[in-house]
Amino acid sequence: MSDNNVQIFDTTLRDGEQVPGCKLNTNQKLIIAEQLENLGVDIIEAGFPVSSPGDFKSVEEISKLIKNTVVCGLTRAVENDIKVAANALRYAKYPRIHTGIGTSASHIKYKFNSNQDAILERAFEAVRFAKSFVEDVEFYAEDAGRTDNEFLARVCEMAIKGGATVLNIPDTTGYCLPSEYGAKIKYLKENVKGIEKAILSCHCHNDLGLATANSIEGVINGARQIECTINGIGERAGNTALEEVVMVLKQHPYLNLDTNIKTQHLYAISQLVSESMGIYTQPNKAIVGANAFAHSSGIHQDGVIKHRETYEIINPRDVGVTESAIVLTARSGRAALAYRAKNVGYELTKLQLDEVYINFLNFADQKKEVNDKDIHQIIETSKVYQQIISA
Ligand code: KIV
Ligand code: ZN
Repeated sequence: MSDNNVQIFDTTLRDGEQVPGCKLNTNQKLIIAEQLENLGVDIIEAGFPVSSPGDFKSVEEISKLIKNTVVCGLTRAVENDIKVAANALRYAKYPRIHTGIGTSASHIKYKFNSNQDAILERAFEAVRFAKSFVEDVEFYAEDAGRTDNEFLARVCEMAIKGGATVLNIPDTTGYCLPSEYGAKIKYLKENVKGIEKAILSCHCHNDLGLATANSIEGVINGARQIECTINGIGERAGNTALEEVVMVLKQHPYLNLDTNIKTQHLYAISQLVSESMGIYTQPNKAIVGANAFAHSSGIHQDGVIKHRETYEIINPRDVGVTESAIVLTARSGRAALAYRAKNVGYELTKLQLDEVYINFLNFADQKKEVNDKDIHQIIETSKVYQQIISA
């Protein structure tokens, strides 16, 4: 892995699957895991094995199936969780245990009724125990986003001492501002003893709509792994959307950060996850929403038809969408109508277009969107139809 490579840790099957009503069965998980490997993710978090026999089985089966990607199982800092995860991962070619504990003042007081020294000890012991089963151990400091940086640095040091090679810094509640999250990563990079032995990972929730921005700030400030999910699904307002962070890095090459993702598979896997889970992606969702490459106002359509990049910063083919859509509505102009008419077989002169456009506007005022069948009807009922077809 080069210094500029950002590892993509996909947690669709663990954090993503925590969405209420979106439970997947083992078969569905296997299909998604296979496509994640095909997409080029570096790590697949396959589940939380101790949580249920079904999750255990899914992690076990995914471990058997996946050949080139790290397969990871989540645990709490609890011996039995770790033993069960190690067992579920026993067939994995590249197994990883992801263990950790809450570190914010609120988690320590209300969740554990404990104190900082005891948390430091548990972090160390959990990692050390996980390390007795697998070489690759990732530690998470839950609610790191609201954890005091000095204490967080001490927690990270204990995890490194125990043998962790990845330190996950979750903004569990999606609270941080990008500048704050970036500064946290920078602080850890500069102040944790032994940090050169580990990589820092971003795991940002989207409660304030900042998950993507926070993850990007994280890698700009030295993190080298992003935890994310397809379509940004996850607890509450969701997790960081994989397709967003990957495309941000791809479209900003001067950041000099890259991933191993084959972006042309992004649209297909987004569809697969949304259909398997029964969660429909909002039309204006960045990168993979139905309208992400659709243009409907006259000014934009004219611009895109003349030169795609006028209004598009991503080539739709780069994410597996065949082409930009020119959507015909009452806000569309002549250029869009001529373009769509041409697609369905009519080459209109300027005068013919002026005439057909009047028909089109009357029609479009009655309907949300004008489709190919409507275009035929509009042209066939126009005064210039005979002229058009005899040309
Ligand atoms: O959001 C979070 O803190 C998590 C951890 C369990 C990694 O999902
Ligand atoms: Zn999470």
